[in-house]
Amino acid sequence: MPSTVRVAIIGAGLAGRQHAEAYATLPSTRITVVCDVDRARGEPLATQMGARYAAGVDEALGADVDAVVIALPHRDLEEAALAAAQARKHILLEKPMAAALAGADAILRACRQAGVNLMVGFVHRFRVELRAARALIAAGAIGRPVMIVDRSRSAMRGDHPGWIWRRDVAGGGNLLYTGIHGLDRMRWLLGAEFETAYARTHQTFPGADVENMVAACLTFASGATGIMALTRVHFPEQHAWDTEVYGTDGSIRIRTGVEMVCAGTRIASRQRVEQDDRFLAEAGEFVQAILEDRPPAVTGEDGRAALAAAMAIYRSAAEGKPVRLEPAAP
Ligand SMILES: NC(=O)c1ccc[n+]([C@@H]2O[C@H](COP(=O)([O-])OP(=O)(O)OC[C@H]3O[C@@H](n4cnc5c(N)ncnc54)[C@H](O)[C@@H]3O)[C@@H](O)[C@H]2O)c1
Repeated sequence: MPSTVRVAIIGAGLAGRQHAEAYATLPSTRITVVCDVDRARGEPLATQMGARYAAGVDEALGADVDAVVIALPHRDLEEAALAAAQARKHILLEKPMAAALAGADAILRACRQAGVNLMVGFVHRFRVELRAARALIAAGAIGRPVMIVDRSRSAMRGDHPGWIWRRDVAGGGNLLYTGIHGLDRMRWLLGAEFETAYARTHQTFPGADVENMVAACLTFASGATGIMALTRVHFPEQHAWDTEVYGTDGSIRIRTGVEMVCAGTRIASRQRVEQDDRFLAEAGEFVQAILEDRPPAVTGEDGRAALAAAMAIYRSAAEGKPVRLEPAAP
């Protein structure tokens, strides 16, 4: 078992830079490669990290790398993940995993065959307020969860890259870039699998060919119901995210980045968010799982489940009726 995990950061954009900052502070990790097709982006980050620069994924997957962090536009996630699995590198793959469900299935198969860890970048699972809520729900603090309402709203023109509004590069719109976190939050908080989706999507963003708004009703195998409202419209603040879970014996409210409030018949608690180190905590789990030779806390199957829900939402919106999620390939 190695004592240091050597990491390649693949994609030196918005997410890749946040990952690099996190991995650089972990004592058990060394960033050996930074890869980006755009030299003007990749080379300065490589220099900053004391790593070599690679212009392409194949060049990045050298003998000096044990694990990769893949943070590329959605269209490019699958090919990079398949190449990394083939080269027997452990993989932290950004959401949504792939631009289509078949891609996610191919990645799962390749990682199983190669015997490498696959973790999907659901970084919200490492937020303290979400972790507290999840622990309380799992401990029965609100009884049986019956309904979950997830509301994400962000400014139309945030600091996100322009490709997220192009179907050919992103595979979908706001749902695949941002809303997929909400789908994972719902499934993870409830500890229940999605069954069906009934949804509408709206496109009001000039120049985009994908949606910026989604309204969806989701059902879970546990009998719970989920409501998702995802908007990217005219707000002054960058982002606000609220999730509420209503159970038979209480409710939980999460204002992301602000606080978590639990009002149960037996348990009442409140947690203010003092510090957000979610990328660092996610990196720590990815590396620790490799060092301990165990699966990571967030798996490829988790990524596939959220992507299947997203695809069901798109299908429902296109067909105008409720649809069942596509089951995982055997
Ligand atoms: N977990 C989070 O909170 C979070 C936040 C933002 C983005 N993301 C995810 O991270 C991924 C990247 O998004 P982003 O916002 O950083 O995009 P970005 O456009 O800012 O960065 C992508 C980088 O990849 C490079 N690139 C493109 N194709 C490449 C290739 N084939 N090989 C090497 N480099 C290539 C681009 O030059 C660019 O620098 C997406 O999957 C996105 O959904 C996750």
